[in-house]
Amino acid sequence: MLVTLNEILPQARKKGYAVGAFNTSNLEITQAILDAAVNMKSPVIVATSEKAIRYAGIENIASMVIRMAQTAKIPVALHLDHGKSYDVCRECIRHGYSSVMIDASYLSYQDNVKLTRRVVRFAHKNKVTVEAEIGRLAGIEDDVAVKKRDALYTDPQEAQRFALVAGCDALAVAIGTSHGAYKFKGKPKLRIDILKEIAQHVKIPLVLHGASGVKAQWINRVNKFGGTLAHTKGVPDTLLKKAVRHGIAKINTDTDLRIAFTAGVREHLARHPSDFDPRAVIGNGRVFIQQVVEERIRVFGSMNSA
Ligand code: G3H
Ligand code: 13P
Ligand code: ZN
Repeated sequence: MLVTLNEILPQARKKGYAVGAFNTSNLEITQAILDAAVNMKSPVIVATSEKAIRYAGIENIASMVIRMAQTAKIPVALHLDHGKSYDVCRECIRHGYSSVMIDASYLSYQDNVKLTRRVVRFAHKNKVTVEAEIGRLAGIEDDVAVKKRDALYTDPQEAQRFALVAGCDALAVAIGTSHGAYKFKGKPKLRIDILKEIAQHVKIPLVLHGASGVKAQWINRVNKFGGTLAHTKGVPDTLLKKAVRHGIAKINTDTDLRIAFTAGVREHLARHPSDFDPRAVIGNGRVFIQQVVEERIRVFGSMNSA
């Protein structure tokens, strides 16, 4: 069934697990996400970025995911990921999204509040939930001066004020992760101390972006069949579990799905060089994504919560 974030995240935070938000832009990725969640009896959030919407077409992606969600026997939210404007949030709501993210973290605090409030007003009128973001999710280099680095993390007091005045349903925080495959220069580190403080002040579900694990085993699977991905460091499972224990109730993953998909497609093409049926080629990418999503759901602890 199609649900909002409010039907899945508050209980996740209360019970100490996180619901996975996985990015899609096509049929096969969506099927892999939903099949994994159904197998694990877990609620799930299917997320589309603005770029994914432009790639697939909003009518196509919205109607497809909504139809699949309605017939699935688990709670599924269709969520806009990193919406940057009021207009894109409104378009998604008009097309039946159950949830949107307004990411106005690129604006000043005041303008972030203002834009988030505006989106919240329209979304709530339409029974749609809103995730907002405070703090900057930047690649944080080891050699950046401490003062400058700290300015990027979410300020707990500011987060408390923001959640109260903006009225959002979930809040993404910056505690040391960044998007993509290249996250940490040195040892992976999350500011759990900051998260603990945020969690004391902010009672709505907290969201962790940039959470992919970028595991060596998956990089190796790509490289075994001709890929040249560098070995980098993602967020280790142990840190994700710690973050969940301290208030993170929604965890976003995109990069791990992209790597798994590429591994599946490369393996198929290498093993079957004379095959040219897209269903077989892409189908193997779908199988690999499903494996990753199931692994992630196990780490987040949301299995058997549907
Ligand atoms: O948070 C970012 C996601 O990985 C989406 O990436 O804008 O390339 O679709 P994208
Ligand atoms: P990753 O790049 O770590 O998968 O993060 C995805 C994300 O945060 C989408 O919003
Ligand atoms: Zn993100």
